[in-house]
Amino acid sequence: MIFDELIDRRNTGAAKWEVAPGPVNLEQCVIPLSVADMEFRSPECIRDVLTDLAQEGIWGYTIPRPEYYEALNRWLLARHDFTIEKEWVIPTTGVVQAVYAAVRAFTEKGDNILIQSPVYYPFYRAIELNERTLLTNELTIKNGRYEIDFEDLEQKLSVSKMFILCSPHNPVSRVWDLDDLEKIAEIAAKHDVFVFSDEIHCDFTFGNKHTVFSLVARKHNARHLVAFSASKTFSLAGLGVASIIAEDPKIREIYQQRVNTDGVHTHSTFGFAAAEAAYTRCDDWYFNMLDYVYNNFKTLKSFVAEQMPQVKLFELEGTYLAWMDFRQLGADHHSLEQLMIENCLYLDEGYIFGEGGQGFERINLACPNKVIIKALGRLKAVYDTLQLRQHKVENPDLRAES
Ligand SMILES: Cc1ncc(COP(=O)(O)O)c(C=O)c1O
Repeated sequence: MIFDELIDRRNTGAAKWEVAPGPVNLEQCVIPLSVADMEFRSPECIRDVLTDLAQEGIWGYTIPRPEYYEALNRWLLARHDFTIEKEWVIPTTGVVQAVYAAVRAFTEKGDNILIQSPVYYPFYRAIELNERTLLTNELTIKNGRYEIDFEDLEQKLSVSKMFILCSPHNPVSRVWDLDDLEKIAEIAAKHDVFVFSDEIHCDFTFGNKHTVFSLVARKHNARHLVAFSASKTFSLAGLGVASIIAEDPKIREIYQQRVNTDGVHTHSTFGFAAAEAAYTRCDDWYFNMLDYVYNNFKTLKSFVAEQMPQVKLFELEGTYLAWMDFRQLGADHHSLEQLMIENCLYLDEGYIFGEGGQGFERINLACPNKVIIKALGRLKAVYDTLQLRQHKVENPDLRAES
């Protein structure tokens, strides 16, 4: 199985591995299951296209070819029942850049911008570095699943200029229901709030149906943009390619102008060639990869159930990132992080996604199954230490004995 291959990414500039010294020998080196990129090689058809392009030797200024738009449309229609027109697409070199540009295009300094915490941390930076005011709608856990507190959402949207939606939601792995999205669109339209819907993880759903925000926004006349990228789905994050969809011509004009002003309008030759191939020629790889990732989740799930019953693992609905709640074990987030490091395991610490993430861990499942299995051994060591500490706190006599 191609996804079983352990690939040495040390000293390649791979952000995740730069923090992981030591040989690619799972006994000795740090296991990084943090940054949201894959340990899988991109599909062969993409590698062939890029190899040919590399041989060509001329990589001048690039704009997407007409075939790119057709490919994107093919993919969105097949996967998400969503059709686009070529004119709607504003290509950028990344979704994060696109969020920043949207913040500057549709809000002024000091305006309130709402996000749902815990959430992908660059959203905080997009707001704060641009001197806007951050508001958060804390996601709440009900019956073991994250839900939206709509009363709070409406109250905050009524005083906001913009809402950055993460759909599916990183890190809590929720695929928002049609009903959730309908309500968001309705409330946003009512209060004339601009919605930026970041759908970079939309190709990773495991049973739940992802709905492109435009499909509900249209009904309610909610001003919005939607962001897609082949980067997560096909291991292309370093190639700098994303597509922002703006159906409304006025919004498109304002946004394109902002993208130009920000100087993020130049494109990656390799990125668009790779994405075009991804959207047209890699379906088999994609479905196999989804199965593989979900199998990794099953490995994690049964291990947690059997060996770490005090950890609450959330269902993997969307994204390839599983979210775990360690709070029952009583450790503060600094000691939890410290213990992970001591056990040579780098996960993304929940607190980086906001206060509501304290005591949680995010684990990246886009890696060989044997890596997950090895990581679980280390996670168990962390768990056992935490349990022992908790036991000692509850039984002070034991502390004196040790
Ligand atoms: C929700 C979300 N948006 C955007 C990104 C990054 O997008 P890009 O690499 O296109 O800037 C990530 C990466 O983890 C993400 O999780």
